[in-house]
Amino acid sequence: MGQKVTVCRTEHFNAAHRLHNPAWDDARNAKVFGKCNLPNYHGHNYELIVKVTGEPDAETGYVMDMKALSDLIRELVTDQFDHRNLNTDVEVFRQLNPTAEHIAIVIYDILRPHLPQHLELKIILYETPRNAVEYPA
Ligand code: NI
Repeated sequence: MGQKVTVCRTEHFNAAHRLHNPAWDDARNAKVFGKCNLPNYHGHNYELIVKVTGEPDAETGYVMDMKALSDLIRELVTDQFDHRNLNTDVEVFRQLNPTAEHIAIVIYDILRPHLPQHLELKIILYETPRNAVEYPA
């Protein structure tokens, strides 16, 4: 057929984080990150949309089996992030400020090797209903 289609799977996780740059003093951290820098962490209800683009398979008519995609996201991402403190419980964020931008890049890098090479991947992550990031840009 030759037409590309994007399939989208929405998942959800709750997690705590704190935005902080250890190279800066407290005043600069407070100025840049505001309440997100408060020392005792705070939570977000993250809405994750995983978009996979490719041509529908000639035999199945699917770009990708959505159950397989959902299982992959749950196993590799939401089971690891949900109800966790991202800064302390998720290894990669011990050294990486867990902004929505960084979380989206990390999720992309986790999922990319598990998807067929010919399919394109995009991550949209809502940190609040009004703030979202998209990667790749
Ligand atoms: Ni926050």
